[in-house]
Amino acid sequence: MSAVLPVLATRLSTAAAVAFGSSYAELDPELLDPELRSATKPEFGHYQSNLALRLGNALGQAPREVAARLVEALDIADLCETPSIAGPGFINLTLLPSTLAAAVNEPQAFTTRHQRVVVDYSQPNVAKQMHVGHLRSTVIGDALCNVLQFVGYDVIRQNHVGDWGTQYGMMIEQLLGENLNAEELDLQGLQVLYERSRKHFDADGAFADKSRARVVLLQSGDPETRAIWQRMVDVSLDDFEQVYALLDSRLTRTDVVGESAYNNDLPRIVDELSEAGLLTESDGALCAFLPGFKGRDGQPLPVIVRKSDGGFGYSATDLAAVRHRVSTLHADRIVYVVDHRQALHFEQIFALATSAGWLPSTTTAEHVGFGTVLGPNGKPFKTRAGGTVKLTTLLDEAVARADSLLEGREGIDRQVTAKAVGIGAVKYADLSSDRGNDYVFDLDRMVAMTGNTGPYLQYAHARLTRLLSKAGTDHDQILELKDPAEERLALLLTGFAGVVEQVVETLQPHRLCTYLYDVATALSVFYEQCPVLTSEGDTRASRIALCTATRKVLQDGLGLLGIQAPDAM
Ligand code: ARG
Repeated sequence: MSAVLPVLATRLSTAAAVAFGSSYAELDPELLDPELRSATKPEFGHYQSNLALRLGNALGQAPREVAARLVEALDIADLCETPSIAGPGFINLTLLPSTLAAAVNEPQAFTTRHQRVVVDYSQPNVAKQMHVGHLRSTVIGDALCNVLQFVGYDVIRQNHVGDWGTQYGMMIEQLLGENLNAEELDLQGLQVLYERSRKHFDADGAFADKSRARVVLLQSGDPETRAIWQRMVDVSLDDFEQVYALLDSRLTRTDVVGESAYNNDLPRIVDELSEAGLLTESDGALCAFLPGFKGRDGQPLPVIVRKSDGGFGYSATDLAAVRHRVSTLHADRIVYVVDHRQALHFEQIFALATSAGWLPSTTTAEHVGFGTVLGPNGKPFKTRAGGTVKLTTLLDEAVARADSLLEGREGIDRQVTAKAVGIGAVKYADLSSDRGNDYVFDLDRMVAMTGNTGPYLQYAHARLTRLLSKAGTDHDQILELKDPAEERLALLLTGFAGVVEQVVETLQPHRLCTYLYDVATALSVFYEQCPVLTSEGDTRASRIALCTATRKVLQDGLGLLGIQAPDAM
């Protein structure tokens, strides 16, 4: 499907130039954007522009007259019916059936980028189970990578795993003190070891000192300490990999570039910042105070680059990561998929990295924030005891629900399909809500076969697949569009490229979800109004072609979201 919208927009701009000549040239280009939108009601045609209203305002002329002059200058008869003017001066456009059919028949065109984007996402922490916050980052990050790759970006995934810091000194000291064998610990064992060492650390000053000395050993590369740490990392990464496999995530071991990877760069970060005159000592710590960053109490908010005990923290590591991504990975764009509570952290990092010259104006850095996953009680999702809910428990439950949904279905591989549907349901629920908002983790709603859900879209796709296999003949050219339900569906299909572009720009996957849901809804109206297999001649061929194009949009769309589209369910 080629996108007709940009073509129509260009024609309108040209008409404005022709009709208003020199006065046009002096106007702000923003004002002249035709802003073609889908019409709000079928009687307004297919698209609507408010250009005449804005232009009229700017030129001090009556909008309806401006609209009339625009329409007169508009050269569009090859694509649209005669344009109409509505209300205060809206221009309504209706595509000719042949234009609409051709737009669906032709391959969809995208502006291809030849740029590199680094996407920092998932980022679980070593020695801790992944939780729902990591689910969001992983699912949103995967979808964004898919979309960016689809339009031609060279995508580099970076899993910025939390694998460095004081807690590992503490845990290693505890493990050695208890004479435990690191080889025998699994992730659950590591998590409880962490809890014991934390208590020990808080209660026993001598242990705390030994733990700090152990961190120094770890950072300076002491072999015994490193070996134990490495074991903790490996156990954790093995576990994360299982979660990624269950989630159908594209992340692999080679995408892991954890916090520890920047250890050797940290002293340089401090040196360069201090040479640039950006550091101030404050209570023994080295801090950067940036203009414009103030706390609620009005006090300046520092970025702590080196702590008073000489250790480097989370911020220093992120600064080193920016530097690496720009100078070594040559990123044109860096995207951080991290919950919105870290918004201020990233604002500070981007500002400081800019001041230090590590983030040039040719690279854009964006924090893609997201809200919290809530439990049934509307509070952040926790177990009854207040602990974090294990992600795999939730995912297994989702697959089990999907499995019972498929009860009695024939001709499917039940296990494979239940996984596709259950995991797809969880991912879709996450992606379809505006990422800035919180949402309630409600499995009943997620796996429902009706409404804006993953299973609803998967079912729409599977039903089309079955219908097309029954048709017996292939058709990929729409010859006629007569029924309003056909027209509505075809018009929606031409919008796919536009929606993908919107996701590239806004990094909001829910826009694609809403679009796919609209397509599936229009499809069900089409089924009601337009028999496919029992119709004849051009009508039958056209409807089969329309179904084929719809199936492709659903399949591609779900694929971009990282959701499987089984052929039967
Ligand atoms: N590991 C951190 C957490 O679980 C998130 C890391 C985000 N990425 C980054 N470059 N700081 O909260």
